[in-house]
Amino acid sequence: MKFSYVNPTQIQFGQGQISSISDLIAKNLKVLVIYGGGSIKKNGVYQQVTSALKDHKWVEFSGVESNPTVEVLDKAVEVVKKQNIDYILAVGGGSVIDGAKYVAAAACYDGDGWDILEGKHKVIKAIPLGAVLTLPATGSESNIASIVTKAATKDKLGFLSPLVRPVFAVMDPDTMKTLPDRQLINGLVDAWMHTCEQYLTKVSNAMVQDGYAETLLKNLLVLAADFENRDNDAWRANLMWTANQALNGLIGSGVAQDWATHMIGHELTALYNIDHARSLAIIQPSLLRNQITVKRDKLAQMGRNVFGLIEGVGEEEGIAERTISAIENFYHSLNVATKLTDYNGDKNQAISEIISQLKVHGMLVLGENKAIDLTVSKEILNAALV
Ligand code: NZQ
Ligand code: ZN
Repeated sequence: MKFSYVNPTQIQFGQGQISSISDLIAKNLKVLVIYGGGSIKKNGVYQQVTSALKDHKWVEFSGVESNPTVEVLDKAVEVVKKQNIDYILAVGGGSVIDGAKYVAAAACYDGDGWDILEGKHKVIKAIPLGAVLTLPATGSESNIASIVTKAATKDKLGFLSPLVRPVFAVMDPDTMKTLPDRQLINGLVDAWMHTCEQYLTKVSNAMVQDGYAETLLKNLLVLAADFENRDNDAWRANLMWTANQALNGLIGSGVAQDWATHMIGHELTALYNIDHARSLAIIQPSLLRNQITVKRDKLAQMGRNVFGLIEGVGEEEGIAERTISAIENFYHSLNVATKLTDYNGDKNQAISEIISQLKVHGMLVLGENKAIDLTVSKEILNAALV
């Protein structure tokens, strides 16, 4: 085990915490409040934010879409540059926070901001930002990742920079009260996937990372099983904190990480507009079955420690195979599909469209073993599309 780990984001967790923004951002700074399509105006979050900022100078930028596009975000970059913004406050889900991270970095760069996503410009400066989370799923509120789409070319790419990690994250579970079930389910599934991407690899003997990952997975199973009681303070708080911990850097420290499901999933979202979490549920079971030889031991560990499966005499299938079925059943229990049925054209045409996008995006070898080349991705897609 060898790693460097730091996560300096100040977490303000709990009901009523939005008011703390007023002290978290210095009063002499000019703030740009960035938000999405308006959900925050319907649930009182906007009002709480504006009242916390009553002694600040601030302006706003709205309309950041789900799977935020550079086309819209570049308009916010202009606002930051023209209005001498000192601080960005992102109020929303992963899309708004990711979008704000892009704006924070692109506003400190003279070239085309998309260069950052294409790796042509390394972020060396960014406007500081804070986040008010309203949808627990991505962990974006305290991590260094941002995923942005170029609508014109259907490119969905990401960048990582510690300079865009939020300085603080307000996590008030009450903000979740207006989330549609679809988004709550997306949150459960995305947090689950983030844990899997950092856990379902090879046996690591990293007891802390494995044990903590297993706790997060078990939490998500419990919350999903208790979905009918979701209108409950503890349910909301536990999902919010679990999703954050699943992708704040901790469980991935010093262990192998996969992320192939995410990379292929991003292409499905960009091409067919599938919700991020749902794109992952489509790919992962097929990917796990394809990669079962190298993931067998870890799948067996997950089966025992997360699903309580017992290696049994008389079982038709091995424990690794049964673990994959249990994962799939978990998605089905939430009415999340594990096959893609809705794509343009026929199946072969869709697969070649996805493969050619993977190629354009340099996703030539994926996974913890760099073993998922385009031929393997094609096999996985062949199993995932019906
Ligand atoms: O735009 P508004 O009006 O706010 O509506 C949003 C949006 O329509 C709505 N919503 C959010 N909070 C709400 C609410 N509706 C009612 N009440 C509330 N409290 O929910 C819809 C979806 O929001 P979005 O932010 O798109 O969802 P999510 O948080 O799942 O973010 C998805 C994005 O994050 C990226 C994904 O690729 C995708 O672009 N990811 C970011 C990661 C990261 N930064 O580490 C990692 C992830 O793997 C992921 O790739
Ligand atoms: Zn994700």
